[in-house]
Amino acid sequence: MKKALQGKIVVPGDKSITHRALIFACLTEGVSKIEGLSPAHDCVSTANCLRALGVDIEMSQEAGQVKAIVKSSGLSGLKSTDKMLDAGNSGTTIRLMSGLVAGRLGKFSFDGDASLRKRPMKRVLTPLSEMGAKITYLTSPGLAPFSIEGKQLEAKNFDLGVASAQVETAILLAGLQADGKTTVTLPFPARDHTRRMFKYLGIPFEAENALSTSVQKLDLSIQSKNIVVPADISSAAFFLVAAAIIPGSDVTLKNVGINPGRTLILDVLARMGADIKVVDVDAFAGEPVADIRVKYNGALSSATISGEEIARGIDEIPILALAGAFSKGELIVTGAEELRHKESDRLDLIVTNLKNAGADIDLLPDGFSVRGCKKLKGGRSWLTGDDHRLSMVGMVANAVCESELQLEETESPKISYPTFAADLEKLLV
Ligand code: S3P
Repeated sequence: MKKALQGKIVVPGDKSITHRALIFACLTEGVSKIEGLSPAHDCVSTANCLRALGVDIEMSQEAGQVKAIVKSSGLSGLKSTDKMLDAGNSGTTIRLMSGLVAGRLGKFSFDGDASLRKRPMKRVLTPLSEMGAKITYLTSPGLAPFSIEGKQLEAKNFDLGVASAQVETAILLAGLQADGKTTVTLPFPARDHTRRMFKYLGIPFEAENALSTSVQKLDLSIQSKNIVVPADISSAAFFLVAAAIIPGSDVTLKNVGINPGRTLILDVLARMGADIKVVDVDAFAGEPVADIRVKYNGALSSATISGEEIARGIDEIPILALAGAFSKGELIVTGAEELRHKESDRLDLIVTNLKNAGADIDLLPDGFSVRGCKKLKGGRSWLTGDDHRLSMVGMVANAVCESELQLEETESPKISYPTFAADLEKLLV
């Protein structure tokens, strides 16, 4: 008998918001207490990079809750360093940190692990060089490792080709150090954690419209403020889908961040017919937060996700593919080419794995289409490419497949959700 998912869980703090809380605290002066931080290795990479620039960050963990105390004297307190700034596996760390240091005088060098060394950096570094920073690629053009010689920057306007909150945030961080008004325009809506945290902390910006954000040189002294980080919807997504596809499940995820730029997973599950309820809406540091309950109803049907919507669920598409594989219809995803540039080529891997497991799935140039079936036989290998999200989809797939899948590795979830396997096990009764 397969087990069902039952109970309540608070998943770890939001990774995107944790990176911003740590970095933006360095724009302020004083002591910031941050609670509910993500324990992800990616966020430790951000903290370590900031420490290398001279920021005093104390992190502690009590009863699974991560807290940080950041002592900062503002932008002018950031020092250049000879040390290589190691972003590990984290795209958000390397890109946001690049924007932060581009306007500091001195030289800063960045590197990352084998996966990060393959990911595109020009989308951030070309705009920063157009603002005046000197970029040197140390091995291959457009890739890490690279160095940034920070300069007095000049403001510019940027219309981004991809709806990337990372690129937008990196440019805004540089814009806060540039002469003049810097404007960044996204092609489609994405997560707006940066705007919300700027507003919460009192960092001036103009929201020209839903897609364009402008900043000017930060001349004010901004007083530090305490921050509470909501639970991560991208981590919650694995349990939301698991409950929607495993018969007998009934799960409540507590205090989940429901930033409108992150809630495609909720919209798509609702569109597919899942029994999903969002209750007790609250706000943490300007971010909407809610409890989310999903009850299995065996009624998942067809859905299409495309174009403009993708950015609102970019990290959840791999787990949504599994929902499609257990629907009574077809899930079609297009416009998701960006997934090829994440920690792995997520389109290739999710399609290969689900096909191996017995799903009726086709790879498209910019997405996939998957037709649902009652059962997945499993019993084959599951490639992860050392990508945390692929490994976690494999663990959920193992709770529903008839025979066990052999996961390539189960270590990578530490990148975003170190206790995922244990938490999944606890809920399966
Ligand atoms: C992030 C934005 C997204 C997302 C990543 C975190 C952020 O990347 O995939 O996990 O914190 O801004 P892009 O903005 O490059 O799509």
